[in-house]
Parts: sequence; C-alpha cells; structure tokens
Amino acid sequence: MATTKTFEGVPWDGRTAYEKWVEDDLKLDLHRGYSASNLRKVPVKLWKERGISAAFYDIIGCESLAGMYIGEIAPGASSVPCRQLCDEVIFIMSGRGTATVETKKGPMSFEWGPNSLFAVPLNHSYQLHNTSGKEPARFVSCNTIPIVYNLFRDAKFVFGGCDWQFERLGDQLNASDSILYKPDANHEKTAVNLYETTFVPDVYNVQRSSFKEKGTGNATAYFELAGSVISVHFAEHPGLRFFNPHRHGPSAFVFTMGDSRGYSLMWLEGGPEVRYDWPVDDMGVVVPPNMWWHGHFGTDPLAFQLAIKLRSRKYPLNHLYDKSHKHVSEGGKLIHYKDLEEGLRNRIWQTYVDECRANGYEVKPPEAK
Ligand SMILES: [Fe+2]
Repeated sequence: MATTKTFEGVPWDGRTAYEKWVEDDLKLDLHRGYSASNLRKVPVKLWKERGISAAFYDIIGCESLAGMYIGEIAPGASSVPCRQLCDEVIFIMSGRGTATVETKKGPMSFEWGPNSLFAVPLNHSYQLHNTSGKEPARFVSCNTIPIVYNLFRDAKFVFGGCDWQFERLGDQLNASDSILYKPDANHEKTAVNLYETTFVPDVYNVQRSSFKEKGTGNATAYFELAGSVISVHFAEHPGLRFFNPHRHGPSAFVFTMGDSRGYSLMWLEGGPEVRYDWPVDDMGVVVPPNMWWHGHFGTDPLAFQLAIKLRSRKYPLNHLYDKSHKHVSEGGKLIHYKDLEEGLRNRIWQTYVDECRANGYEVKPPEAK
C-alpha cells in the first residue's frame, strides 16, 4: 500500500454530514437534546438560499433520520422556489399565506393559516408566500433531510440537482381533497379516522375518532400526506387519567400545543426516566428515542398533541412501528398500568397524583385491566 499523505491523529469531529451542512455551510443554529421548547419564540437566522429565516434541531430520538427546523417568512415575503429529494411536512404555527407546488398537471396552490398542515411532494418545486404585510409567518418543518443528505453529502444534488418527476399525488387535483379510511373493526389496519390528502386547512377542525387503546376518552385523526414516508396524527387527550405507555421506532416528533400543563416520561427498559415538561403558552417538541417506553401525562382536563413521524402506514420505512397500539400480549408495543414493574409503577403514579394535585385536581386510579 502506497502512502500518499501522512497526518497525525484523526481530525474528523464525529458530526454527521447533515450537522456540518447546517452549522458549517448554512451557518444556522442546530439545537440538540431530547426535546425543545419555545418553538414560537426561538431566534431564527437568515437562510439565504431559501429566502427565509430558520433554526434547526437535531433531536436525539430522531437517530439522524428525520430532521426538523423552524422557518419564518418575513411580512410580504416569499420563499425562494426550491425542490429537494426529501419528504417534508409543514405545520403553520402563526401567520397566513399561500403555497404553490409545481406538479405534472400544473401548479397546485392553496391558502394556509394557523394550524394548517401540508406536505411537499418529493422533489416537487414549491414556494411559500406570506400574504400579510405586517406579521411574519412561522412554521415547523419535519423532513427527511438528515437521512437523504447523509447518504449523498451534496447540497446541489439534494436541493435541486435532480429534475426527476416523482409520481406522488396520484389523481389528486385539489390539495385539500382527501380520502377517508374509517376505523377498521378489528383494528388491524387503523384504529381511528385516517385521511389521505396533501393539505389540511386546520388540524383542529378535522373529525377525530375514539382511540381507546391510548386511554379512555382519547380521540385522534391520522393523516397520510402526499405519498410521503412521514405521517401525522392529531390527538385529543383527556388529562387527569393514566396514559398507557407504548414504544416504537425513532423519529416521531410529538408536539405539545401550549394549551395544557403536563409532561412526557420516557425510559429505556430498566433505565431511569427522562421527563419533559410541556411548555405553557408555547409549542414544544419531544421525540422518544428508539424503542423507549413513553407516556404523556396531562395534568389539566384536556390537552392536544400533534405527532409528525417517520411512520407511514401506506409506505412504511421499517417495521419498528408495527402494532404500536396493540397490547404486548397480542405481540404489540403497548402496556397497561398493571404491566409496569412495581417500583416504576408506584413512582410514576405517585408523581402523577402529586402533579395533578399541585394543579388543583384529583386523579382517578387507572382502570384495572
Ligand atoms: Fe409514541
């Protein structure tokens, strides 16, 4: 073997190509951790290639597969048209505007506002416009940039270098047209309403259906968006009740909406619990690491959660989410109160009783199952 160059030591710093792209090339902030709060207020910096401002997140539970950034469009401004070899789902936190997506059948446009949800179909050029002359528009993007960028390591290729026209929209003509899959009686396919669409004008206004496996009174709607590998659900959780813990694969962003007090607990089998306190009056996000047990414990009567995850039922990337709402006795990934190891069960329950009491509420003991 001929040595062509010699160095002392290994200079590589261990960051992924995605992390280097964000920090070294874009020179934007990349926040790390199990969770993040103050998403409505986090400072954003100019991402000049996109014509927006942004702050990026590398959350541990994503395992460098899915990525997330907060984007902000200045009043009256538009983003730079772009296309990318990545799936992207956008949730509007504040502001109003329009989106234009170039499709095989011509431009698809729609108007978005607070609590809108939509997907950008793979490698379709798109542009966002803030139609307010006074208010910025702020959104959160969940996307597959890390997994794709880490494979190719070439921004020009990933973001516009390939003009292949992927077929992702099928026969859909209008972005908000949807196909509804109602709950399957045996819950083999879906336990709740599932909508296949591209654009949801307001996630709060979509009919949810009972999802009792997650706990009494839970109501949820699922969304499969633009033929993406990312899917979404929006859930209404009654608080002051035990939430059945479950576990699944990585890259499931759980957004808290700032409407309720509570916390999420996550633990690796046999390990200590990691707790995330939901911010009040802001949005927060927590991503349970791969196959860690977790539960969401509302300490007010009602909470809403938005989950954006690398888990499509139609186009699954892996099997780490299979049967995530089935009890472990059926080969699933969900447990009940009585299934918890005694020490952990007592600790979780006593903490919950204390937290609810601190908010002025008494909680009912979990139903014996
Ligand atoms: Fe989960």
